[in-house]
Amino acid sequence: MGIYMIGKLNHVAIAVPDLSAAAEQYRTTLGAKVGDPVDEKDHGVTVVFIELPNTKIELLHPLGSNSPIQGFLDKNPNGGIHHICYEVADIKKARDQLLSFGARVLGELEPKIGAHGKPVIFLHPKDFNGTLIELEEI
Ligand code: CO
Repeated sequence: MGIYMIGKLNHVAIAVPDLSAAAEQYRTTLGAKVGDPVDEKDHGVTVVFIELPNTKIELLHPLGSNSPIQGFLDKNPNGGIHHICYEVADIKKARDQLLSFGARVLGELEPKIGAHGKPVIFLHPKDFNGTLIELEEI
């Protein structure tokens, strides 16, 4: 059996302290195609999606009191890259291979439905050069 490979970069998620200022900066200063803010209550974030020719950027801002990105913003008050997301065709196959190499999945091992309605898992940043990695089944 061959090595199971990741696919395209699906998105880069950036936590921002001021969502409207960040969206406006991408729209004007960078000239990007910027969507309207979307509240994702189940995930505790408000997201602005930015479409680039080859990938997406997601600006994340905390929503509600238990937001998973509040702690990140507390540590990084100016904002910062929160995670990057790679596409995989079979998330359980990818997960099993990662586990066999000793990589750690955050939370439960079973994939959860992520912000785009597709199964996702997150990998421990300490196992990947300090980068939180999301795998999304496409
Ligand atoms: Co994501």
